[in-house]
Amino acid sequence: MNGLTIALSKGRIFEETRPLLAAAGIEPAEDPESSRKLIIGTNRPEVRIIIVRASDVPTYVQHGGADIGIAGRDVLMEHGGQGLYQPLDLGIARCRLMVAVRQDFDYASAVRRGARLKVATKYLKVAREHFAAKGVHVDLIKLYGSMELAPLVGMSDAIVDVVSSGNTLKANHLVAVEEIAQISARLVVNQASLKLKRAELKFVMDAFARVSTPLDADPVLP
Ligand code: ATP
Ligand code: PRP
Repeated sequence: MNGLTIALSKGRIFEETRPLLAAAGIEPAEDPESSRKLIIGTNRPEVRIIIVRASDVPTYVQHGGADIGIAGRDVLMEHGGQGLYQPLDLGIARCRLMVAVRQDFDYASAVRRGARLKVATKYLKVAREHFAAKGVHVDLIKLYGSMELAPLVGMSDAIVDVVSSGNTLKANHLVAVEEIAQISARLVVNQASLKLKRAELKFVMDAFARVSTPLDADPVLP
């Protein structure tokens, strides 16, 4: 279709994207927190926003359900990034993808002993690759959220999840033991749209680039 479709997830990505949209002269017509609509218009008749799960943003853009989207690097690492052009680190939704364990679990010694670890996560691919690269044998348990619970109920030795303030880990007597990656959200673009809608996309990309602070430009995380 003509015009531009932008895939965003509700919550922090939508909220942190608002100023970027504003820089491109785009104002959402409705608030996705209060509206049940999945397609939200904007002040610009040719631009619309679709509201999808954070982990589905790359899939919608890859398959042409949206021309562009904004997704965390964690989500993109897990998706694999195939069929997507990733021109811009937006520096928003910053966090770190970490391995965490119970405070009373000696991770370093378990790794040294060559123990087989149970790891609960929604990031199966990322976790598999991370532990394989370290030569650590793992049994992975797929979860969709509240990963912090798994070690507390004896279901896993470790989790792989994003950490920002560290409050969730602390509140659940967990401790981060390894960083897998520094995360922020990136603009992703459908490869066909990039060719067919070059001018519209360039306008949006230039506006986003003007007001964003990429992770690389600011290596000190809060
Ligand atoms: P889904 O609904 O697909 O399971 P989700 O609930 O993880 O996704 P959000 O919590 O909105 O979705 O997170 C969106 C993105 O924001 C994540 O992919 C990650 O990059 C980043 N993020 C997640 N948690 C935090 C946090 N506590 N602080 C900062 N950024 C975060
Ligand atoms: C994310 C993540 C952690 C938490 C980390 O959850 O899954 O649980 O944030 O942030 P902190 O280090 O600042 O405590 P979120 O708040 O997005 O909840 P959800 O994944 O259940 O939506």
